[in-house]
Amino acid sequence: MRPISSGRQSKQSPITERPAADAAIGDVRPYTVAMPAPEEPSFDTRCVHESAAPDVRTPPLAPPLYLSSVYETPSPDLVERAMDHERGYYLYARTASPNVVALEDALAALEHGEAAVATASGMAAISSLVLALLAQGDHVVAASDLYGTTTTLLSGPLAAHGITTSLADVSDPASFRDAMRPPTKLVLVETVSNPLMRVADIAALAEVAHAGGAVLAVDASFTSPALSQALAQGADVVLHSATKYLGGHSDVTAGVVVGPAPLLETVRSARNVFGAVCSPLDAWLTLRGMKTLALRMERHTANALHVAGHLAGHPKVRRVYYAGLPSDPDHGCARRLLPRGAGGMLSFELADRPAVGRFVAALSMVRFAASLADVATTVSHPATTSHRGLSADERAHRGIGDGLVRLSVGIEAPDDIVRDLDQGLAAV
Ligand SMILES: Cc1ncc(COP(=O)(O)O)c(C=O)c1O
Repeated sequence: MRPISSGRQSKQSPITERPAADAAIGDVRPYTVAMPAPEEPSFDTRCVHESAAPDVRTPPLAPPLYLSSVYETPSPDLVERAMDHERGYYLYARTASPNVVALEDALAALEHGEAAVATASGMAAISSLVLALLAQGDHVVAASDLYGTTTTLLSGPLAAHGITTSLADVSDPASFRDAMRPPTKLVLVETVSNPLMRVADIAALAEVAHAGGAVLAVDASFTSPALSQALAQGADVVLHSATKYLGGHSDVTAGVVVGPAPLLETVRSARNVFGAVCSPLDAWLTLRGMKTLALRMERHTANALHVAGHLAGHPKVRRVYYAGLPSDPDHGCARRLLPRGAGGMLSFELADRPAVGRFVAALSMVRFAASLADVATTVSHPATTSHRGLSADERAHRGIGDGLVRLSVGIEAPDDIVRDLDQGLAAV
């Protein structure tokens, strides 16, 4: 902080140093100042300029949070350095800011990518990637089982801008090969899909995408870098909704794109011009969440396996979707690609929508919530939440029935989760 009160060494405010002048403030009319010393700027000016940055000589263990939307760059050279993203130089927080860069560095390192760009949400990550990569006339091949809003992005705004999409079965790389054609620029899948928990064979899909000259982008929101390393398996880009496991506590809305530096530079510019940057507070909270990511994922995964096994044997449950179960059709793929487990998400089928209503109403610990990946177990109903944007026919075609329940298994004691779910199922 540049001191504005002349000759003042102490960080203590001159206002508190001069109680007599302070006392007079209450007596004066608004917007006038109580008798500043002649060498000092007025009280009005000092209100603006006395808010010094904290003076800390011993490094804090928790990183500081830089909320500033703008940085002082008192020479054109400094502006250039900030614009060139030189480390430690900042200009304007829509372009870059310290906590956001720290999050990007951490995710690039954990995903073994060259660069990362953090965004305002998971959808902003996907949007920034497609805006960077695609133009009118281009074609996308996407998994048919994807988060509903991603499907809506492809079939709505992208289609309106002349970018077409074909859907393929994520368990069948040959169906992706069949859907590829010369303008295919992007192949888009989820590591473990929302909501049917299909596991993508990243290596096989990378081969298909690369043979057609396309980029393979993998949304790893359901697995996080603790369980899947999609870049190492052949993907070009990894995406996350950091709102989910990276944050882990339902207090963040953020996203990230990780991949090769030249492509990520284009994603960074798309994020900048469309204004989709991650906020410093969300970056800070995501980094705090990530400190316990490995521990949380281990527990989410162990609990989900326990719960899935229990549900699979329950008479009221028609089917369980969880690749960690040996009976699941994607179990073999999960064992190869997700050696640390299939994650904390599972789905199961009840008879119909009224059965889901009765189940949810009878739960006491597990809460109904549209998101996922909290440390607490939550339940949701894809037909009315994540996949509401699809028509009933589209949902039926994709196997998302009205009786489908999606469970985000938390880190509580597994028996407590099972007890509450059994209470819900008893009401079905
Ligand atoms: C797999 C997946 N990707 C992306 C998103 C979008 O993330 P956000 O809500 O942070 O925009 C979601 C949201 O649920 C999701 O489940």
